[in-house]
Amino acid sequence: MCGIVGYIGEENAADIIYKGLERLEYRGYDSAGIALVSQSGEVEIRRSVGKLNRLGANLVKNPLVGKVGIGHTRWATHGKPSEENAHPHTDETKSIVIVHNGIIENYAELKNMLQKEGVTFKSETDTEAVVHLIKKYYKGNLLQAVQTALKEIKGSYALVIIDKNNPDRIVCARLDAPLIIGIGENENFIASDIPALLPYTRKMMFLENGDIAEITKDKISVLDKKNNPCEREIKTILWDAVQAEKGGYKHFMLKEIFEQPRTIEDTFKGRIYPEEGRVYIEEAKLEADFLNKLSKVYIVACGTSYYAGLVGKILIENFARIPAEVDTASEFRYRDPICDNSLIIVISQSGETADTLAALRLAKEKGCPTLAVCNAVGSSLSREAHHVIYTHCGPEIGVASTKAFTGQLTALYVLALDWAAKKESMSKEMLKKYLKELWEIPLKVSEFLKKADSVQEIAKIFTNKRDFLYLGRNVNYPVALEGALKLKEISYIHAEGYPAGEMKHGPIALIDERMPVVAIAPKGKVYEKMLSNIEEAKARGGTVIAVVSEKDEIIKQKSDYQIFIPETDEYLSPIMAVIPLQLLAYYIAVILGCDVDQPRNLAKSVTVE
Ligand code: AGP
Repeated sequence: MCGIVGYIGEENAADIIYKGLERLEYRGYDSAGIALVSQSGEVEIRRSVGKLNRLGANLVKNPLVGKVGIGHTRWATHGKPSEENAHPHTDETKSIVIVHNGIIENYAELKNMLQKEGVTFKSETDTEAVVHLIKKYYKGNLLQAVQTALKEIKGSYALVIIDKNNPDRIVCARLDAPLIIGIGENENFIASDIPALLPYTRKMMFLENGDIAEITKDKISVLDKKNNPCEREIKTILWDAVQAEKGGYKHFMLKEIFEQPRTIEDTFKGRIYPEEGRVYIEEAKLEADFLNKLSKVYIVACGTSYYAGLVGKILIENFARIPAEVDTASEFRYRDPICDNSLIIVISQSGETADTLAALRLAKEKGCPTLAVCNAVGSSLSREAHHVIYTHCGPEIGVASTKAFTGQLTALYVLALDWAAKKESMSKEMLKKYLKELWEIPLKVSEFLKKADSVQEIAKIFTNKRDFLYLGRNVNYPVALEGALKLKEISYIHAEGYPAGEMKHGPIALIDERMPVVAIAPKGKVYEKMLSNIEEAKARGGTVIAVVSEKDEIIKQKSDYQIFIPETDEYLSPIMAVIPLQLLAYYIAVILGCDVDQPRNLAKSVTVE
C-alpha cells in the first residue's frame, strides 16, 4: 500500500505533490520521491529513504520547478527501502516516469524479457519493469504505449505516468488499487486516496477497475476496461482530513478489518498458482533437501502473531509433515532451546518487537537458520533473519492487530503448501484443492463483511458483561485465543481463550448466565465435539454465541446466537472465523466508548521488554 499524488496545472507541482504526500503518510513511509518535467523540458527527480520529511529537506536544498509532476510514498513489497528502490522510476532515457501502488505478479518474467532485450535495470522493484515496458512500446503517444504495455501485465496496479515529450498530460491506469482524480480550475490532480486532494478540491472522480485516463490541466478523458470512452461520476467529498485518512470509517481498526479481502489477496498473489498447483515464494527459497533434513521448526512470536504461529504449527505438521513447536518469544529467549537441525520462524507485524528480535538473535547465535514472517520491509527482523516472507498488508495503524493476523495466516498457508509441494508430502490434487480454497478466501471474507451489522446487533446485547470465555479446537483454538485478546485489549473486558476440550478440567466451573461463551464451531472433524461443549455450557446456564458454517441448521437449537461464516476447508477456517471475532470486539468497545485505535496501556509495537 503506497501513496501516490500527481498534478498538472499552472502552479508549482512540487509543493502541491509534497503536501499531498504528507496526507498519505499513513499509507507508507519507508521512502519517497517526486519527479517533474522541469521548465527546461527535462525530467527532474528527487528521492529520499526514510520518512517523508527527509524528502522535504532534500527539496529545500534542491528545489524542483515545473507544472506537471508525480510523487510517491512507499510501503515496500519488492526490494528493501533504499533510494534506488524509491519511486518514481524512469526508463533508460529518463523520458518516461512512473509511480505505482500494487503488485506486478509477473514482473520477474517481464524483467527477464527486457534484460534479454538489453534493458538495464537500476532497482529491485516490480514497478521498474512497467516503465521499461511502456518505453518499449512508445512511439510518441504515451497513452497508446501504456495501453499496449498493460496487456502484458498481470497483478494489481495504480499507475501514474508522465513523459517529458508530452509535458501537457498525465496518463494513469488502475486495476485492483484505487486512483482518484481531483478536479480543479485550470488544473487537475490525481491521488491514491482522498486525503491528498482535500486541500485543493472536493470534486473527485473515482476511476474504476480497468480504467485508463489521460489528464491535461483542463480535460480528463477516461477509457474503460474495454477501451471505450466513458464518463465517470464526479462526487463532492465533504469529509475532513482525519475522516478521509480513515477512508470514511470511524476508526482505523474498522477500516483495516474491511481491508482484509485486499490484504489477504495481496499476500498470496504472485505466490500461488492454483491451476498449475504451483507455489513460488521469491524471497524465501528453502529447498527440499534443506526441508527434508529438518528435525523441528520452532515458531516464535508475541501476542496476536504468536496465535498465528499456533495455526502455523498445525499447517506445517499436517501439510509438510515437519514437527513444529510454538513458543512466546519472551519464554523462548530464556529457555536455552535445543535447536539442532531446526529452523526458527519468527512472526511479527512490526518487525521491531523486542522479545521477538531477541529470540531471533538467540537462534542465530545457536547457528540456526531463521525465517521471518513480517509486514514491514526493512524492519530489524526482516533485515536480520536469513529468509523472509512478507505479508502485504500495508501499514496497520490500529493497535489491535487485525489485517496483519490474517496476512500472517495467509503467509503461513503459502509457506506450508510450498514446503508440502517441495517435500511431496501432499498429493498434487490436494495441493491444488488448498490453493483454490485459499484463492477464494478474499471473496468469502468480502461476502461475510457485508453482514457486519448482524455482529453489531449481537455486540449490543453483551456490552454489560465482565467476563467472556472463547472456546475452539484444533486450528480454531488459536482463534479462540485471538478473539479473546481482541476483546480484552480494546474493551477492557476480561476474556479467556481456552481449548474446548479442556472445559471439564476447570473452566466449566466459571460458566453461568453472567459469562457468555463464544464457541468457534465451523464444519470439520471437531464439529461434533464442539457441539458437545456448547451443550455443556448451555446446561450450566451459559449464553452461547456460536461462530458456525453457513447452512448449519443443527446449531440453532443448541446455541443462543449464531454468526454464520462462509464454508471453507477446515484448515482455512481460522481466516474466516476470526473476522466476526474482530468485529464483535470492535463493536462492543465502540459502544463502551473505548479508544479503539489507541487502547490504554498498549503500544502498536512493543520495542522494549
Ligand atoms: C495484538 O492485537 C497486539 N497489538 C499485540 O499482541 C501484538 O500482536 C504483539 O505485540 C506482537 O506485535 P508484532 O506482531 O508487531 O511483533
